[in-house]
Amino acid sequence: MTREVPAAVIAGVPVDGRHWIGGERVASGETFTDISPIDGSVIGEIARGTAEEAAAAVAAAKAAFPGWAATPRPERARILHAIAGGVEKRLEELAVVETTDNGALLRSHRRGVMPRVAHNFRFFADWLLKLEHEDFETRGHTNHVSWDPAGPCVLITPWNAPLMLATWKVAPALAAGNTVVLKPAEWSPLTASLLADIAAEAGLPAGVLNVVQGYGPEIGDALTSHPDVRRIGFTGSVATARRIAASAAANLTPMSLELGGKSPLLVFADADLDLAVDLAVEQYDNAGQVCLAATRVLVEETVAEEFTRRFVGRVSRLKQGDPRDEATDIGPVIHPCQLEKIDGFVQRALAAGARAVIGGHPEQGQYYAPTLLTGVAQTSEIVQEEVFGPVVTLQTFTGEEEAVRLANDTRFGLAATVATGDPERAGRVTAQLVAGTVWVNCFFVRDLRAPFGGSRRSGMGREGGTWSFDFYCDVKNTVTAPNGWKAHG
Ligand code: NAI
Ligand code: MG
Repeated sequence: MTREVPAAVIAGVPVDGRHWIGGERVASGETFTDISPIDGSVIGEIARGTAEEAAAAVAAAKAAFPGWAATPRPERARILHAIAGGVEKRLEELAVVETTDNGALLRSHRRGVMPRVAHNFRFFADWLLKLEHEDFETRGHTNHVSWDPAGPCVLITPWNAPLMLATWKVAPALAAGNTVVLKPAEWSPLTASLLADIAAEAGLPAGVLNVVQGYGPEIGDALTSHPDVRRIGFTGSVATARRIAASAAANLTPMSLELGGKSPLLVFADADLDLAVDLAVEQYDNAGQVCLAATRVLVEETVAEEFTRRFVGRVSRLKQGDPRDEATDIGPVIHPCQLEKIDGFVQRALAAGARAVIGGHPEQGQYYAPTLLTGVAQTSEIVQEEVFGPVVTLQTFTGEEEAVRLANDTRFGLAATVATGDPERAGRVTAQLVAGTVWVNCFFVRDLRAPFGGSRRSGMGREGGTWSFDFYCDVKNTVTAPNGWKAHG
């Protein structure tokens, strides 16, 4: 018996809260309540998936795999472009729903995030058509490299940029000829459900993309330990990654892990200081809930005072408030639990002797004041652990060697940003930094052709361009001898 689980209606947009399995809406016996971080209001009832429902989604993905894998590349690409078209057509709806669900700025969803969602599909569709490796010879034998579809993929994604991070994996997985079970985060389940509608309208065959909703700890294991799952793509926390890795160990299922960070921003005395200040202020975007955020600002001692003065001046002009308001710079944090977690880090840092130059406390509602902490020890929790909130520490250094040492001295290695006016210094310093992405005098410039991922605890593997297909495909080399052919006819 399927009981109607309506979902949410946001600004007139209906969102189905049920799973999407094998081309059908499937209700769950239980639901969980989705809440908006903007005002704490209830915005929907969402299917609280079970292990059986997760297994049904994998079975649907398995059943749909042979047909989709055999679909010629140009046809797969055409359907992905049609999905992109659907995203573009419903861009405003997606933007409003995402903002209501996770609290990130509506203006960024409109102008940056949702266009990028469409681009994820267009980019990997186009890349698929160009994907080839030149044949090469070994003593007259021909080596031919092919990227074969691998099978059903489980993709598990976080809440801080829900649809953007989900589609950055869904698009290459589908392009590769795989089928997908997508499990969005329970704090931001809505846009994944809309994506299922858009994909169906675009002509994606039933079962090729499935969406299961629910709490990670309740259905995660059923997905990640399933023997029919050929790839696990995960973006989220280190703690969850460990559980997934343990669960995937049963079948040695290949995993791509994009995890947390504690990235440094190195500001040298020779840098354009206003540019450096701008780069630092950007770290409060999305209320600091950004994996790449450079939350450790390291400033050369001689300019630290001036840097801090200008930084405080810039931050005082930021507007915190309703993320639907075009003028807002910093919205709410996603959930009361996240607010509590952020404040816990800050209060422990203050108790350990840190000083809040600005902020250091929650604001009315579900907001956290942009915070800058000084007087922090390199070994302290606030310098070593990811906060995932609008909290930045400032430390000083003397000379390149100390800057690099401090920058590299965490267990993470996701990104690093260097502000310097000297290209030779930039070369020396970037060569020594341990990070998947390094920016020089810029931040957050992302190109889907580039490899993306983290070193150390920040992840495993790289995605982007051909790297994505290397992960989502079974890469095969076929060696053919020149002299084995029988005469025909
Ligand atoms: P999380 O690890 O708590 O949850 C991520 C996803 O995993 C959710 O969908 C959740 O339901 C699921 N999950 C939870 N337990 C599970 C289990 N036992 N088995 C399978 N799935 C399970 O992370 P959260 O809080 O949603 O996201 C924040 C984290 O994500 C931060 O650490 C952040 O740095 C990281 N992140 C990394 C990015 C990157 O590209 N490196 C990008 C964005 C976020
Ligand atoms: Mg929500």
